[in-house]
Formats: sequence, structure tokens, C-alpha cells
Amino acid sequence: MAPDKFKLAVLVSGRGSNLQAIIDSIEKNDLQAEIAIVISNVKDAYALERARKHGLEGLFLDPKSFPDRNSYEQGLVEQIQSKSVNLICLAGYMRVLGKHFIETFSGRIINIHPSLLPAFPGLNVQKRALEHGARFSGCTVHYVNEEVDGGPIILQAVVPIIDDDDEASLSERILEQEHIIYLEAIRLILEDRLALSGRRVLHDK
Ligand code: GRF
Repeated sequence: MAPDKFKLAVLVSGRGSNLQAIIDSIEKNDLQAEIAIVISNVKDAYALERARKHGLEGLFLDPKSFPDRNSYEQGLVEQIQSKSVNLICLAGYMRVLGKHFIETFSGRIINIHPSLLPAFPGLNVQKRALEHGARFSGCTVHYVNEEVDGGPIILQAVVPIIDDDDEASLSERILEQEHIIYLEAIRLILEDRLALSGRRVLHDK
């Protein structure tokens, strides 16, 4: 019998280009994984359409159908647990995850962020990097802990900022790199090549 594939849950809220990069890489057999479920907190997220087009389960979990934040998170936990996933990938998921969720899946949640963390956590980060006059930006894949965009860093890619950049042009060049390093990070995890030492992630130790 073939061994079980490494299972992913992907959490999204919008466009879903990182989700698409993961789907494409799996379909090309570059990534030996399967997406067990895609969950969105936004009903009309284009990411859900991308999932369904590829025959994946795309679930809209409506925050408004739960009495409070904790029960929403419990709903999310149950959906993910029912799929026995190995790794949860946040891909443009715009809700902050709470303690219960993070503790339940401790060490098994990763996020992609469009800046060189710890610079520019939070929102509108490409705009803020430009306004700040930063000469380099980029993207970061990190483990998720309770600090927003503050978990241990797995991979980064540097994108130089050029004088003519505006938010759109910079975001586009960063996004190209996101699609590369997010896949690399998932591959490192599924090949069990990462270890945590304090807040540092060691590769191939
Ligand atoms: C990306 O820039 C990602 O870094 C950030 O949200 C955006 C999501 O884009 N967390 P997409 O939905 O994957 O196209």
C-alpha cells in the first residue's frame, strides 16, 4: 500500500495565489503532498473558487454563524482535525488566530508574510516599506505563534526596492518570491529537515 501523503490544510481569505502555487506544485508532482481542505472566512474569496476548480474541498466557515470568536476557532479546529492534517498553511488568511487554535496545532502552522520580518509585521507592509525608504524588502515564511507575524523564521527571500517602485510593482515582485519560498518551506517540513532551537529554526540538523 502506498504511504499516506503529507496532508495540508490551507486557510485563506482572498485571492489565493499562494494556494494556487501549492496546488500547481502538487499537480506537477514537485511537492509530495495533498491538500485535504481549504478553508476561508470570506464567502466570495477567489481562493475558494481556485480550490473547487481543482476538485478540492473549499469550505466557507462563516464567523457570523458562531456566537463568538472562541467558538469559531473551535469550529475551525474541528474541521481541521477531521482531516488529520500534518501542516496548516496560512495563505493570506486575514484573521488573527487565538491561543486555543495555536496550542492545538502547536508547531504545525506556518504563514507567509510579504516583508522581511521582524521588519514590518501587520498590514499594508509593502506600502510601509516604501514610505520608510527601505532599500530591501522581501518575504518571510515563519511558524505561527501567538505573536502576530512573530514566530520563528523558516525562510526569507530578499527583494530590492527600486526608485520607481510603487506599492503594486513591489507587491508583485515580492509575490513571485512568495510562491517560491512557500513551497520550499513546505518541502523542508515534509522532509523533516527543520528543528527549533529557541526561536531559531535550524535547517538539516
Ligand atoms: C500575500 O502577500 C501573503 O504574503 C499575505 O497575504 C497575501 C496573500 O496573497 N499574507 P494570496 O491570497 O496568496 O494571493
